[in-house]
Amino acid sequence: MAGRIPQQFIDELLARVDIVDLVGEYVPLKKAGREYVACCPFHAEKTPSFTVSPQKQFYHCFGCGAHGTAIGFLMEHQHMDFVEAVEHLAGRLGLRVPREGGRGEAAPARQPHAALLQTLADADRWFRRQLREHPQASRAVDYLRGRGVSGEVAARFGLGYAPPAWDGLLRTLGSDEAARARLRAAGLVAERAGGGLYDRFRDRIVFPIRDRRGRTVGFGGRLIEGDGPKYLNSPETPVFHKGRELYGLHEARESTRRLERLLVVEGYMDVIALAQHGITWAVATLGTAATAEHLERLFRTVPEVVFCFDGDRAGRLAAWRALEQALPAMRDGRSARFLFLPEGEDPDSLVRREGRDAFLARVEKAVPLSEFFLEGLAARADTSSMDGRARMAELARPLLSKMPQGVLRDLLVEALGRRVGLPPERIAARLETPAAAAAPPPRPRPAPARRTPVRTALALLLRQPSLAAGALQARAWLRELDLPGVPLLCQVLDLLEKEPHLTTAAILERFRGSEAGEQLARLLGMDLEVPEAGASAELEGALARLEARHREQRTEALLAKARAKGLDEAEKAELRRLLAAESPGTGLGSALD
Ligand code: UTP
Ligand code: MN
Repeated sequence: MAGRIPQQFIDELLARVDIVDLVGEYVPLKKAGREYVACCPFHAEKTPSFTVSPQKQFYHCFGCGAHGTAIGFLMEHQHMDFVEAVEHLAGRLGLRVPREGGRGEAAPARQPHAALLQTLADADRWFRRQLREHPQASRAVDYLRGRGVSGEVAARFGLGYAPPAWDGLLRTLGSDEAARARLRAAGLVAERAGGGLYDRFRDRIVFPIRDRRGRTVGFGGRLIEGDGPKYLNSPETPVFHKGRELYGLHEARESTRRLERLLVVEGYMDVIALAQHGITWAVATLGTAATAEHLERLFRTVPEVVFCFDGDRAGRLAAWRALEQALPAMRDGRSARFLFLPEGEDPDSLVRREGRDAFLARVEKAVPLSEFFLEGLAARADTSSMDGRARMAELARPLLSKMPQGVLRDLLVEALGRRVGLPPERIAARLETPAAAAAPPPRPRPAPARRTPVRTALALLLRQPSLAAGALQARAWLRELDLPGVPLLCQVLDLLEKEPHLTTAAILERFRGSEAGEQLARLLGMDLEVPEAGASAELEGALARLEARHREQRTEALLAKARAKGLDEAEKAELRRLLAAESPGTGLGSALD
């Protein structure tokens, strides 16, 4: 394992990066007062409720509650993991991400599968060079040209050529035992029955399969002519899982300005032909049916997915399987549609024959999931008879049960009720609610935080961490105060005592992934209506109210103890002081006698 990224580095990163620039690269921001606003990229909306604050270096959506720092934005919007997000930000600033000692490994161990990925990257480069330089590459070039692929699109998809020899790659990249072992692990060479290795891809057009980050994780290879399977794919390896990757997703994200929907097709060449015609948002599953994991990945990228299938019986069946996989992912705000192509056509042949506009017109007319669902059920049961309608309801039950609660599910239940002649409540009552489905629940819309002195104090400290200096003393009594949020307030003060120069975003990052972090983020979204100049006085006011509350609590505790078992001298003195500080003449003084 690589060493940890030092916290200090993350603080520095957040202090130097500008979240407005970063978010502005993905979302069209407009300035509105001190903040920037846009329609939220995390939920569908028509009026902007997404705000980015340059002061707080924080984004927040009042509609869906999405929020976070620059790191959080990359994680949510670009689906990076934490380390990827940090590396991305560092890259923008031209910084190298330092690592704490760890176990002193050398640099290549920075990522788990670094060696494997490096081998794949080397092979990728080699295949591409062969397409340019190998004496027999003209066959591949002619083939691609024959299928209408331009040099520009070939380059965008990194197409390459695997020459006919059995050991071209093996000799180039397999100079020693360790290198050969890596080639094997990467699925680039295979072992002969009688021992010895040979290149897996030979005399084929090579399609690099890239992951979300654009790293080549596997290859597909198409036969140019001759015998053998038309397509050959890399085997599953630690970095390549067919049930997860989508061919063309990286390229779609790279070359589509605002990715709003994805078209799911079957083949490599479909993706490429569509891109060639300007439809840069197609992806292909890799010789498998779409899995639930594919669906989740698709819907985390865009709200709308259109599946493309042959119009024949096999195509319809495959579409039904895709529908079954899609149901658990159909949260509100997402839509899935099904496009059935004329018999004998695939997207490649069709877009080349009809052109882009005609193809897009077909996409517009794709069948919505709801319609395909009801049609499909009706086709599986004879709805003219009562038995048939009962069967239709029975077929629907497990499918609807897989869906998350929401408008679409309600509408389907209603429509089904009309079809089978049952009140929708009767159908709904028999559905199971999906157990913690594969999909995370929709983000609960957070209730606006009520203003309490604790929340006010926390919100002020978050906004202006420099205020902490004046509040450190308060911890003496704060630690005794029994109120929700006070431990967190003490924690924040402790943190700012040790590291007084932390920025708002850096503080939030310290609490990443914790309930406390969520609370803090919510507080940051709270409208304090306090001008920066008044913040110090406001904090004092909040602390004064808390201190009064502390005196009350302490008084009550001492009084209770006095009644139960009496107080010692010190406690009596304390109680006297406390009572004197309160309004005199409450008559409580008698407890001291
Ligand atoms: P098709 O045979 O429909 O591919 O297989 P295609 O894209 O239309 O092929 P072209 O147009 O003749 O080049 C669709 C997908 O199924 C997988 C591949 O992922 C292919 O893109 N496949 C197909 C294989 O894995 N192996 C095969 O032998 C054939
Ligand atoms: Mn084809």
